[in-house]
Amino acid sequence: MKLLIQQQLLQLLQLLLLLQYSCAQDFHGDVQIDACSDSDGEGMVGLDGDVLYYADFDKKEMVYTLPQFGDSMECPGCYEGAVGQQENCKSNMQIAREAMKDIPLEIDPPGAPLLYPRDHLKPSHHNTLVCQASGFYPAPVRFYWTKDGQNVSLSASVSQPYPQKDGTFTQFSRLDITPEEGQVYSCALDHPGLKGETRSRIWTVEFQKPSLAPSVFCAVGLTLGLVGVAVGTFFLVKGRECC
Ligand SMILES: *[C@@H]1O[C@H](CO)[C@@H](O)[C@H](O)[C@H]1NC(C)=O
Repeated sequence: MKLLIQQQLLQLLQLLLLLQYSCAQDFHGDVQIDACSDSDGEGMVGLDGDVLYYADFDKKEMVYTLPQFGDSMECPGCYEGAVGQQENCKSNMQIAREAMKDIPLEIDPPGAPLLYPRDHLKPSHHNTLVCQASGFYPAPVRFYWTKDGQNVSLSASVSQPYPQKDGTFTQFSRLDITPEEGQVYSCALDHPGLKGETRSRIWTVEFQKPSLAPSVFCAVGLTLGLVGVAVGTFFLVKGRECC
């Protein structure tokens, strides 16, 4: 009898382990991209929607994007590997272009970008404005930034294009700002799928005025409470008087 129970327990445990295993499979997804075009290249490894590291072909090094917890992550030889993949990619692209020259390239333009500050907004406090482009293919998308009508694109940084489940890409651009009331920022996208149309978003700095609502609620609550105490005291005294 005891043995039987043990066996059943073991089976249950195995089932649980199996379930846990399949959950773990569903919960994490890593991705490696080696992509190239005539003007751009990408070599990137990501996990669960975040870039872990990517090859910066201008600075000729791997860039590790995770904050440092404990041991720092390094991947010796990975930059050289990514450079090798770029060469493979370019020669494969040459072959594919000849083989598929009659098949039109699939192009999806990005939707209108999202534009939002990263941190809670406070006057004259350093902040970062984030512009998010998604739904486009192929990568990359170009970002144009203006501040009060001036082109400030050179001051912005651009993330690696990140692939989504539907095969399109998402990409972010960040602009460091010191917000002051009334400033107007804009982020516009450029992509071959847009054919001269612009997709842009404008963001005007407006600080929230302190709201009156909490003090009004407090005053009304306090008044009701005091009235209650007064009425209660009145009936208490009345009750004593009559008997
Ligand atoms: C803004 O400046 C960038 C960088 O100098 C330049 O590449 C881009 O063409 C400019 N955009 C516009 C719309 O003038």
